[in-house]
Amino acid sequence: MGISLGILISGRGSNMLNIVKACLKKKINAEVKIVISNNTKSECLEKIKNKGFKIKIIQNKDFKNKELYEEKLSNVLKTEKVELVCLAGYTKILSEKFLKKWKNRVINIHPSLLPSFKGLNAQEKAFNYKVKYSGCTVHYVNEELDGGEIIDQRVVKIEKDDDIDSLKKKILKEEHKLYISVIDKLSKKGL
Ligand code: GRF
Repeated sequence: MGISLGILISGRGSNMLNIVKACLKKKINAEVKIVISNNTKSECLEKIKNKGFKIKIIQNKDFKNKELYEEKLSNVLKTEKVELVCLAGYTKILSEKFLKKWKNRVINIHPSLLPSFKGLNAQEKAFNYKVKYSGCTVHYVNEELDGGEIIDQRVVKIEKDDDIDSLKKKILKEEHKLYISVIDKLSKKGL
């Protein structure tokens, strides 16, 4: 069974799907308890119906303020007995209050070798900077955007014939491998 996961997404959801698959196929020592999206248009949610865990849409706009939204988020995660919260393309910034409650229990994947190229469009930034290597990072989430302690990284070489799209694809492929390997390691090591 392993560690209990809650996955937060906002969009495409390829990392989420990959984690769900790895758990269901018992490739990693973890179990998805809930997937939460803040986007009603996350089409990937269709693909994970009836897999034995909850799927919820929780949107900021349905709450009076961010605090109440996060309180709901936190309560739902607790109800499902989530131990580790995995952000996978989740675009909201979590407050200090939420992160205090979930200290060292929230991790995120970012498409660059942090601390380089924080924030949005990291692959484009790396490409335009003409770095020769980029990659992806899984890190703990703290109050600084993409600034929490690095857990692990994977490197991608940028070849002469790469463009932004091919680089994005290469990095995403490594993201999928990295995220499940980190979850598996954390599960074995203990939180
Ligand atoms: C990934 O590139 C991830 O690193 C970043 O957002 C993207 C999400 O992609 N944080 P997906 O929704 O997992 O397909």
